[in-house]
Amino acid sequence: MGAEPVSDRGGVAERTILDVLDVAAIKRDFPILEREVNGKRLVYLDSASSSQKPQSVLDAMDEHYRDHYANIHRGVYTIAEESTTSYERARTKMANLLGAASTSEIVFTKNVTEAINLVAYSWARANLSAGDAIVVTEMEHHANIVPWQILAAERGVELRWIPLTDGFRLDLSRLDELLDGAKLLAVSALSNVLGTTNDIRPLADAAHAAGALVLVDAAQAVPHCRVDVQQWDADFVGFTGHKMLGPSGIGGLWARAELLEAMPPFLGGGEMIRDVRQDGFTTNEIPWKFEAGTMPIVEATGLAAAVDYLERLGIDAVHDHERRITAYALEALQERFGERLTIYGPREIDGRGSAISFLFEGIHAHDISQVLDEDAVCVRAGHHCAKPLMRVLGVPATTRASFYVYNDESDVDALVESLAKAEKFFAI
Ligand SMILES: Cc1ncc(COP(=O)(O)O)c(C=O)c1O
Repeated sequence: MGAEPVSDRGGVAERTILDVLDVAAIKRDFPILEREVNGKRLVYLDSASSSQKPQSVLDAMDEHYRDHYANIHRGVYTIAEESTTSYERARTKMANLLGAASTSEIVFTKNVTEAINLVAYSWARANLSAGDAIVVTEMEHHANIVPWQILAAERGVELRWIPLTDGFRLDLSRLDELLDGAKLLAVSALSNVLGTTNDIRPLADAAHAAGALVLVDAAQAVPHCRVDVQQWDADFVGFTGHKMLGPSGIGGLWARAELLEAMPPFLGGGEMIRDVRQDGFTTNEIPWKFEAGTMPIVEATGLAAAVDYLERLGIDAVHDHERRITAYALEALQERFGERLTIYGPREIDGRGSAISFLFEGIHAHDISQVLDEDAVCVRAGHHCAKPLMRVLGVPATTRASFYVYNDESDVDALVESLAKAEKFFAI
């Protein structure tokens, strides 16, 4: 590949690691944040759903399409090799970001949902049968529930649920009982609804002691905090590019090499084979054994640029920044609205991420979101793909604001002002 594209927008794209995020400079790196909606400055507070993309990611993808595009792993001509190098470079970057032992432990998929399905269809179907159990938690996203429900229905596997405490954390008082005889613990590192962070290492230790493997849905963790798969001692970790400043269409699975080696292929087709005969086939080496068909090539280049961007900011600085903004938002919401606004998630900043779900008594979450849109404040309303959790909480939907590297106090203030307008609007 040629020289790595850099932003000339005066942002942080080409700077070195910052201790404290310069949000004004970061905002300049995201072209969409320059636009207005309904005549107002765009206030994007839906990064838990999908993040915006910096110019450097857009440039990297544009450059790949313009100057280096060809299919990967096939051609021996120059641009095919450049395209392959760029794709594989993304794998190296993700392996480094996650602390993987080797690049062969990173399998690219189209998103975390596909990564979890890969484990469900390959590892779980090879290893679980009637009478086995999988432990999930009540705060999981549908992506970490439904693949196991499909398996449970097909195989007679039991699904057990770790409940929640009143403080919106996992109630681990019966963990050993739930893990007894289980083959897998499937848990998210950070809830997309509650914002709760789960301490993975003790969960992994307990699961391993019970003879179960551990799958971590890290969709919300990888963009926001340091993830080290070795420190977690997990067996499978899923991530998704579009929440971490990268493009949609690419995500992946980290898994221990020996597990990937032993697992049967998931999808069949081109790329994942070494040989095909009329009487059968042999699979490619890992990770390509799990990468059937033409992969999201240019998206991988965009993901690599996203990792570069995050690393330039410093993932610890990103995490600290989000803690500050979230603490500011929790306080501002409480101060302004008091008991009229219920937050579904931990009130304390330790052990929580930046997603804040809430409800005003008597006002539907969707109505709030619609009024906020008039002020160009983008928040998510709904069940957030966590309907079992909504049932536990006893609500059909919540409004959720979530913060990322390009949000600062002015965005929180805009949220609070717009919420005050909405509250007044719906007052009877
Ligand atoms: C915790 C969690 N898991 C899984 C997903 C699914 O991500 P994707 O649609 O990229 O597969 C999400 C997306 O909201 C999420 O927040």
